[in-house]
Amino acid sequence: MLTSNIARDENGSLLFAGQDVCALADRFGTPLYLMDEARIRENCRMYQNAFRKAFGDAALPLYAGKACAFRQMYRIMAEEGMGVDAVSRGEIHTALSAGFPASRIWFHGDGKTDEDIRYALDKGVGCFVVDGPEELEALDAEAGKRGIRQKVLLRVTPGIDPHTYEAVNTGRVDVKFGVPIGTGQALEFVGAALNAEHVELDGLHCHVGSMVFDETVFEDTADLMFAFMRELREKFGYVTGTLNLGGGYGVRYVEADKQADIPARIAALAEHLRALAARASFPMPVILMEPGRSIVADAGMTVYTVGSVKRIPGFKNHVIVDGGMTDNPRYCLYRAQYTVLHAERAGGETAVFDLAGRCCESGDIIQPAVTLPADTRRGDRIAVCTTGAYNYSMASNYNRLGRPPVVMLREGESYVAVRREGLDELCALDL
Ligand code: LLP
Repeated sequence: MLTSNIARDENGSLLFAGQDVCALADRFGTPLYLMDEARIRENCRMYQNAFRKAFGDAALPLYAGKACAFRQMYRIMAEEGMGVDAVSRGEIHTALSAGFPASRIWFHGDGKTDEDIRYALDKGVGCFVVDGPEELEALDAEAGKRGIRQKVLLRVTPGIDPHTYEAVNTGRVDVKFGVPIGTGQALEFVGAALNAEHVELDGLHCHVGSMVFDETVFEDTADLMFAFMRELREKFGYVTGTLNLGGGYGVRYVEADKQADIPARIAALAEHLRALAARASFPMPVILMEPGRSIVADAGMTVYTVGSVKRIPGFKNHVIVDGGMTDNPRYCLYRAQYTVLHAERAGGETAVFDLAGRCCESGDIIQPAVTLPADTRRGDRIAVCTTGAYNYSMASNYNRLGRPPVVMLREGESYVAVRREGLDELCALDL
């Protein structure tokens, strides 16, 4: 099976985290997001251990909440000793209301409003990742009003292509994030931060992309960042204390995908960073990274019920389910690949189907050309694997469909972490 938390019992019924997927669908209804709590925790521990071994105790993995954010997720992150990368007031509020400590939140985002800045300052968010000079100025002014010095990292763009899909490629010079090093603008940006009275420059941030499999991308990024850090020392006498290298390790969605050995990659990166620091006579900076997808993706599975099966002779077959681009827009947006399994049975004669959703447009496809039992019919349950990242967090109410619940699986038990969005809730904001 694609990941070790997926199996079938002797009757061919699908199991996730050891639990019967169809029984869970009967109990909680569909569409349904399932999440394997043990897997989330294992992934956190994998990062924690790899970081401790590679960088010592000061280094910290920050969970990028954009991958999947709800209160219980932040409770787990708090218990696992993770930091958090948040990109909006909504994410910060969710984390704080779950008891996650503000001091362990790094506030990202390229479009922070004045209201966002004030909110985060008032809540005592640990660190701002400042995306550009206007934000720096606004933050300096707001921090000044409060008589504090706010700790910040500055987001810079190293100018690197991580060889991933366009929508998540964030390292190149011309992207909308951060301030480019190559044009000289990043140098000015750092100068401005060093002069800002109410800002305490803690270091630098960069994030070059998501779904990165290329094994040298982080090392190449570190080379560029260290070259820039040397420039900062020469120009301003400033020694970078913290270097945040962003998120991005890829995960396996289909059998053909590689399995990234993240602890090995982190160990290799640490060695590379130590060599860079030694060569430049820098103290080793505190290293932060912000994994999102690789913490939660393989902890998720989505379960649907088939509504109809259309066989168009000489053309194609469609299996239409009770969810779609509303709960998983990733094929529509990125042509993302997924592994699709029939939850009730395996084996026997098969046929190829497009797994389509119930939204009113032909592009509403969860995954094209999937192989399922030829006799797939209304009422059958279908599972889509590895949906823990960027599914729930990107879900919409298109066609006024309510978002599915998130049910957590833990040690043979299940509990609702996010309720199903009902009809009244869909109208809750309508006057
Ligand atoms: N840090 C920053 C600044 C980011 O922008 C991101 C992701 C991460 C960390 C986490 O990256 P990860 O470890 O999850 O790759 N919706 C897209 C993914 C967008 C990623 C945006 N930034 C998708 O569904 O593939």
